[in-house]
Amino acid sequence: MELLSGEILSNEKYSDNLYRMEIFSPYICKNATAGQFINVKCSPESVLDPLLRRPFGIFDIEEKFNVFSILYRVKGRGTKFLSELKRGDILDFAGPMGNEIDLNGNENNILLIGGGIGIAPLYLIAKLAGGMKKNVFFAAGFKDNSYLRWEKDLIELKINHAVLTEDGSWGEKGLVSDYVWNNIRSFKNFDIYCCGPRDMLKTLQNIYKDRNNKVTALLDERMACGVGVCSGCVVKLRKGKRGFSYKKVCKDGPAFNLGEVIFD
Ligand SMILES: Cc1cc2nc3c(=O)[nH]c(=O)nc-3n(C[C@H](O)[C@H](O)[C@H](O)COP(=O)(O)OP(=O)(O)OC[C@H]3O[C@@H](n4cnc5c(N)ncnc54)[C@H](O)[C@@H]3O)c2cc1C
Ligand code: FES
Repeated sequence: MELLSGEILSNEKYSDNLYRMEIFSPYICKNATAGQFINVKCSPESVLDPLLRRPFGIFDIEEKFNVFSILYRVKGRGTKFLSELKRGDILDFAGPMGNEIDLNGNENNILLIGGGIGIAPLYLIAKLAGGMKKNVFFAAGFKDNSYLRWEKDLIELKINHAVLTEDGSWGEKGLVSDYVWNNIRSFKNFDIYCCGPRDMLKTLQNIYKDRNNKVTALLDERMACGVGVCSGCVVKLRKGKRGFSYKKVCKDGPAFNLGEVIFD
């Protein structure tokens, strides 16, 4: 992990509160991979408020151009600040953080399950797994059609996918977890990577409880230091039949075996 700064090449508004930011950084393009994230300073130079950096998964890496991107939803002060940055501004960030995801897995088939902004770190997995000649299917669920522009990125990657929306304004009406359950047989020999709201992850944990698929969840636990010092991002994991242990999402994750995560 390094403290870095990179020129913003674009900060495109995908919809009302969804943005894709492209940043020039040969270091990240060379050293980062799927599942990792960056920690961004969300205030002007020499201003330390807000003090805590904000974590964002790496959405895409275009190695040829030394450009990587993040896809982010405006939520509070930090992300509002990011949304106001312009082409040519300099982004202050630390990275790459977290561990690399093992894409070799057990199978040649990969099912990606994303809910809302949880689709962001899965896009790079889709791209890299596609490059490894894996058969990739992306199932994504949203409240409404505000992520519509993202589908264009996926189509460019030529990834087969299904979109579900709660209000039926785009794709099929319904929940992505119901889609997975209804098609459970089609995804029998798939390794699974998922990221999204807790309720979605809990439902997927139940669905895959007694099945043999390797299911990896990317957790986006609230973070403070981002480097394993403050214990602000601890998750509880099952250990053996009755035991449990605590792990830090920023240092030991963000990817964990979904079956081991204890959602209290
Ligand atoms: C590993 C990881 C990857 C992430 N990747 C993305 C991504 O690719 N795109 C995206 O839009 N969001 C992502 N998030 C969530 C993103 O970090 C928060 O939405 C963001 O920190 C909110 O900051 P804010 O100042 O706008 O909101 P505020 O609500 O004002 O933030 C207040 C505090 O809460 C923390 N916080 C709030 N929500 C979250 C959250 N969901 N996760 C972690 N910390 C939170 C902030 O870091 C900050 O300390 C990720 C989170 C983690 C942990
Ligand atoms: S955020 Fe401080 S230990 Fe993970």
